[in-house]
Amino acid sequence: MAEARTIGIFGAGWVGLVTGGCLAELGHRVIVRDVVPERIEALQAGRMPFHEPELPEVLERNRDRLHYTLDANELAEADALFVCVQTPPTYSGDADLSYVWAALDDLPQSGRRQILVMKSTVPVGTGEKVNAALEGRGLTNVGYVSNPEFLAEGSAVRDFIDPDRIVIGAFAEEDGIAVEKLYAGIEAPVVRTDVASAEMIKLAANAFLMTRISFINEIANVCEAVGADVVEVARGVGLDHRLGPHFLRAGIGYGGSCFPKDSLALKQLASNSGYHFQLLSAVIEVNELQKRRVISKLGKHLGKLRGKKIALLGLAFKAGTDDMREAPSLVLASRLLSEGADVRAWDPVANPGELMKGVVLCDSVIDAVRGADAAVIVTEWDELRGLASPEVREAMARPLIIDGRNILDPAETRRAGFAYEGVGRQPEPNSGS
Ligand code: NAD
Ligand code: UGA
Repeated sequence: MAEARTIGIFGAGWVGLVTGGCLAELGHRVIVRDVVPERIEALQAGRMPFHEPELPEVLERNRDRLHYTLDANELAEADALFVCVQTPPTYSGDADLSYVWAALDDLPQSGRRQILVMKSTVPVGTGEKVNAALEGRGLTNVGYVSNPEFLAEGSAVRDFIDPDRIVIGAFAEEDGIAVEKLYAGIEAPVVRTDVASAEMIKLAANAFLMTRISFINEIANVCEAVGADVVEVARGVGLDHRLGPHFLRAGIGYGGSCFPKDSLALKQLASNSGYHFQLLSAVIEVNELQKRRVISKLGKHLGKLRGKKIALLGLAFKAGTDDMREAPSLVLASRLLSEGADVRAWDPVANPGELMKGVVLCDSVIDAVRGADAAVIVTEWDELRGLASPEVREAMARPLIIDGRNILDPAETRRAGFAYEGVGRQPEPNSGS
């Protein structure tokens, strides 16, 4: 068990709340500060500001050790201050660090030594700049540690409590040791390194995961052209222990709050330093094109899309979350609307609000597909695994399923009376032979 400390957290988003809740679970006292009053009010009233499995239970279980506030001065008594604010892209693709700098402006006056722990994903060199700024402000009793976070939404609590590794980059040895101690109770290899390398580990890990996705998506596109099945291919490739099975699910391209922005930030970071990161540029381009391939598949079956009714099933960028940041569904919806299609959509938890103007939102799958010329599986929700049912076939004007996530069995779906297109699968049975 960790020696109990007082921890301050800047940001009650995915990373901040999961970090806060899990550090409380390890026995620490945690003060979470956000700048959005409704968010803090919701948390104080025991309501979750977003959907993340297991997080409500963690927060409830550790209620007595968790405190939520708008007032940064309440963090004065903290031993460590975790920065978990957003780092969205700017127009140039660089990471926008204004929220990080704003959090630094709010650092409390404290008599004790505090360690600033950077959990937000930031460009390499940020630690150096922040450290210099702290010194420039005379805050010599504030240490700096880079401690990037690798959790994925939908499995965030599990990822935090049972991580593959904990990365700690410190300027001062004792600060690195102190942060490592905060994690006592979590079994994981600890990578102690310099700050710049810690920052790069995070960007490189995300870029590598994206590279795998764009790679398998391109293999899928070739499979379609030559009559192979990418699901089989990924299974066979992934069994090579040097390659492994992860992140080889072909689909409609990656989305989310991190991959798209972090790829741009790394590409831009390299470019600002005079290096053209060719491979990453291709990964990004492949991903953009992948999202649009659904449109040509629809066109292949339906001809012109003007006036056609298309059901988008799943809106979140992946299953297990209500997060719609950079979701492929947004690109699909706007492409379909501009083709003149009638777009209906369903998602069990995500609520697009203003993001999907012109799209009719439905409460159930069956409502979404009623009268539709095609159903597109956009998010791999479990509720969609039984989509190829007689009820759905009856409800649709045309029984066509475009499976953007390869969650249905092509043969079974066709036997159930649907025309079926997956990603990287044979368009018609045995057509590759
Ligand atoms: P988020 O947008 O969900 O949450 C950020 C929170 O910080 C918001 O609630 C915002 O109001 C708050 N905030 C902004 N300025 C503040 C300030 N001055 N003081 C206190 N709070 C402030 O973001 P997120 O998804 O949790 O991501 C945070 C960072 O972690 C990003 O850099 C992201 O790249 C990185 N990251 C995210 C994930 C993920 O899965 N979401 C995983 C690993 C790393
Ligand atoms: C991702 C990383 O997995 C985390 O390790 C990292 O901490 C996080 O980004 C971050 O830096 O914020 P997340 O975006 O929550 O986490 O979700 P993933 O499960 O990685 O999925 C990202 C996207 O890739 C989704 O759109 C998903 O559908 C897609 N994906 C994933 C595929 O298309 N194929 C795959 O095989 C895997």
